[in-house]
Amino acid sequence: MQDSAMEQGHGSLAQHGTALLALMLVLVRAPGVPAYGFRNCLQAPDDPGHFRCIQRFLSNMAGAVGDLPANTTVLEVAHNTIACLLPGAFTHLPALRSLHLPFNQLCDLAPGAFVGLQALQSLNLSHNQLQTLPAGAFTGLPNLTELVLNTNPLRMLPVDAFGPLPNLRRLLLCSCHLCDFGTIAQSLQGLTALQELSLCGNRLRALGPSPGLPPSLAVLRLCNNSLVAVDGGGRALLAGVRDLDLSYNNLSDADSFARVSLAHLSILRLAGNQLDPFQLLAVSNVPNRSLDFSGLPLGAKGVHGVCRCLGPAPLTQLLLQHLELHMLHNGSLAACPPMRALDLSGNRLRALGCVGEFLSAPQRAVLENLTAEHNLLAGLGSCLQAMRLPMLRELNLSYNRVLSVGRGAFAFAPNLRALRLNINTVAFLHRQALGTLPGLTELRLDNNLLTDLYIESFAGLPRLETLNLRNNRVAVLFPGVFKHLGHLRTLDLGGNILRRLTPAAFHGLGSLARLYLDGNHIAHISADIFQPVQTTLEVLDLKGNRLQYITAQLTHEPPFLYLNRLTDLKLQAQQPYGLKLIPHHFFRGLTALQALYLAQNKLLSVPPDAFDDLAQLRYLTLADSSNGMWDLPPGVFKNLSRLRVLDLENAGVHTLSLEVLGNLTQLEELRLAKNELRTFNGSVARALRTLHYLDLRKCPLSCACADAWLWPWLNSSHAQVVYLYNLTCARRGPPTYLHGFSATVCFLDVGLYLFAATAPALLLFMALPVLYLRAYWRLRYHCFLLRSWVNERWQRADEGHYRYDAFVSYNSADEAWVLQDLVPQLEGAGLCLCLHHRDFRLGRSIVDNIVDGIYSSRKTVCVLSRRYLRSEWCSLEIQLASYRLFDELRDVLVLVLLEDVPERELSAYHRMRKVMLRKTYIHWPPEPAAQSLFWAQLCCAVRGSHADGKDEELCCFDDPGTEGPGPSS
Ligand SMILES: *[C@@H]1O[C@H](CO)[C@@H](O)[C@H](O)[C@H]1NC(C)=O
Ligand SMILES: *[C@@H]1O[C@H](CO)[C@@H](O)[C@H](O)[C@H]1NC(C)=O
Ligand SMILES: *[C@@H]1O[C@H](CO)[C@@H](O)[C@H](O)[C@H]1NC(C)=O
Repeated sequence: MQDSAMEQGHGSLAQHGTALLALMLVLVRAPGVPAYGFRNCLQAPDDPGHFRCIQRFLSNMAGAVGDLPANTTVLEVAHNTIACLLPGAFTHLPALRSLHLPFNQLCDLAPGAFVGLQALQSLNLSHNQLQTLPAGAFTGLPNLTELVLNTNPLRMLPVDAFGPLPNLRRLLLCSCHLCDFGTIAQSLQGLTALQELSLCGNRLRALGPSPGLPPSLAVLRLCNNSLVAVDGGGRALLAGVRDLDLSYNNLSDADSFARVSLAHLSILRLAGNQLDPFQLLAVSNVPNRSLDFSGLPLGAKGVHGVCRCLGPAPLTQLLLQHLELHMLHNGSLAACPPMRALDLSGNRLRALGCVGEFLSAPQRAVLENLTAEHNLLAGLGSCLQAMRLPMLRELNLSYNRVLSVGRGAFAFAPNLRALRLNINTVAFLHRQALGTLPGLTELRLDNNLLTDLYIESFAGLPRLETLNLRNNRVAVLFPGVFKHLGHLRTLDLGGNILRRLTPAAFHGLGSLARLYLDGNHIAHISADIFQPVQTTLEVLDLKGNRLQYITAQLTHEPPFLYLNRLTDLKLQAQQPYGLKLIPHHFFRGLTALQALYLAQNKLLSVPPDAFDDLAQLRYLTLADSSNGMWDLPPGVFKNLSRLRVLDLENAGVHTLSLEVLGNLTQLEELRLAKNELRTFNGSVARALRTLHYLDLRKCPLSCACADAWLWPWLNSSHAQVVYLYNLTCARRGPPTYLHGFSATVCFLDVGLYLFAATAPALLLFMALPVLYLRAYWRLRYHCFLLRSWVNERWQRADEGHYRYDAFVSYNSADEAWVLQDLVPQLEGAGLCLCLHHRDFRLGRSIVDNIVDGIYSSRKTVCVLSRRYLRSEWCSLEIQLASYRLFDELRDVLVLVLLEDVPERELSAYHRMRKVMLRKTYIHWPPEPAAQSLFWAQLCCAVRGSHADGKDEELCCFDDPGTEGPGPSS
């Protein structure tokens, strides 16, 4: 009972269930649920308040930043095509402190564009197309301290451009096509806190007429304009300015300085003007010491003149840059006051001699810093006999052409702390060149042409901490070359041509923490090489060497076995074909390692135990390291439970399973861009509980139903998915987006559609046998009736007239009896019989013929025998006839039992039985005497009465041929 009820209800229940499920899914991903991902912006992994929306082809600010959270503090929307800002464009970001919109196409700021940004401190609108600033553009920014408008085609500033910006301290308006200082000054009137104004690179020709500058203004930069005079704005215009930059203008009239008050200047830059500085100092109230002589034509007075101007009192620094100085003689600067720093950069000096010679004794006593970058210095000779500069701490000779450094070249500066000889062409460094510099901590020799390093070169530098030898031509490190550098912390040998390393090379480096060997030709490393530094080394850079492994078994000890303090190991980009393999236990011993770089290595495989010893690892990159598609072996990260950042970008990965990533329980950042990933595994996502940055860009995501979990996960997860709304599905045709992928489709697809497709089919299959058993002939019969009814209607066949008196249904086995006995008897009695072999119409289907025969006969005579009962056709015939019995309520059946058929055999043909039970039947008597009665009974039955529905009177002895319709022709 119950079962059948359930069966009945099953179809509709399933349908309801599917619909319900679909509905629930629709609710789960209804719009408005904040998925964690931003359409156009990236949240900085290390600062959740900092968003960058850079190079995203954005043209509409609202669309660009509409989905950022209200507690955003720093926003950069650079390198897009945004053209206008509507009022209140950022009201939903009231916590912004810093807003950077450079490199857009802003040409229109609506008044109130920044309204609501009460906390904003810095606003950068540089590199846009602003031609004007509407009144009120900057209203609602009470805390703004810095406004950057560089590189906009602002020809004019309206008077009220800067409205109420009570806290503005820095205003940068460089490269803005501005040409009228007066209107600029006018627009600044309300800026009572302004301290720095930069107007470099405009088209200013004069400073007036102008209404004066805010009294708070201390720094004014007017470089790279076309100013010809400074007095246009009135005497007091620049009175409050401390730092004035007028370099690279067209100032040539020193007298114009006489008409302005510059007494409070602490620095005045005039480089690039054709101006006589001595005349300037003579006529104006510029303090002599405030004038930067750099870049000014000194004329005949030269450096002597400068020195005399400066007076005798000691000076902090003397800038003598870009003065075309060719030579400094003995005592050239002796007339200058003692200075602590001297900068001679950008001249044409070919030699400095021994520096002490052009200084006076008091100067030598105090000079601390000497810089002579960008000169033409060719060589540094021996200075053993020179006068000393006991205070010199820093000597900077970068960007020269020094080819050789002689013996004791720095003996004049015994207390040097930092020596910079980088970016020269030093090919020869005398073994004694550096001599003894007991205080030297930093030595830069990078970007030279050194080939050999000698022990003696570094023997006198006991305190050296940083030695930079990058980008030279060093091929071999001689044994013990650094053995005197017991305090060295950083040794940079990158970019040389080292091939082999020996343990002796690092002998004596008892404090070395950082060793850079990147970009060399090292093909082999072993544990003993690093033995001298094993207790101190923290950073080892082997990037871009020639390391390569082709067998998974190491022949020696693992190379880093003893570096148990190492925190950073860089092995990226081995040349020319990458590391290829990571041998077993390659990283053994690196128990303190925190960052491992294996990018760009064309790895063929990684053994599952590769990282087993790196329990402290925080950062691992295998980016760009694929050699085609591969998959990480299960368990490869099993011990990296402290890993925070895993970078697998472009690593050729195409599946990531729980077995690979499951143990990374502290992972925060996972970069998977540009892989062959078709999905991001749901179980992996759930295992990475602390993940907050996930990059899946440029993966051919399938957006299959397996990804349906992604949305609910995003809603409950703290992970930012990089450009979530731009992730596309890898499908043909127009791009479809992951976020547009509807999980309901899955359920409709799989559930309803499948159900809808299979249920009727199933029902049909179930019903077919039943139908076949019970109703086949009934159906066919009804079909026939319908058809014949239609036909009759069509042909207007006359009804009620039978062509035959009887249709004789018999089995061919009984044909002899039928033809020899039955037919002669009945036809002899004037009955017209329908016999299938005789009267069936050719070319019609046999069923039609049968039905037609039965239907066009008044009666159907069934000649029953066992064979008859077994015969299909006969059973059809008797069934059809019996339908007439039931349906037309007309008894047409005349049953002739040719032989005795037992009851149980009849029961196999229950329809037959039903007929037999209802009908009486006539037995064919084998004894000839009884046969005439039989014939009479039969004739009578066939001729029959017209008493429909009633049992025939089988015994009627009317005259044959008197009743009934004659045979129709
Ligand atoms: C911003 O608010 C969200 C929750 O509203 C919080 O998870 C997030 O840490 C906040 N960000 C900052 C920078 O405070
Ligand atoms: C404006 O700046 C001041 C001082 O820096 C700070 O105390 C105040 O909270 C700021 N106002 C807003 C709205 O952030
Ligand atoms: C000398 O140079 C150092 C480092 O560049 C700097 O910190 C120091 O202030 C300079 N000394 C003087 C007097 O300029």
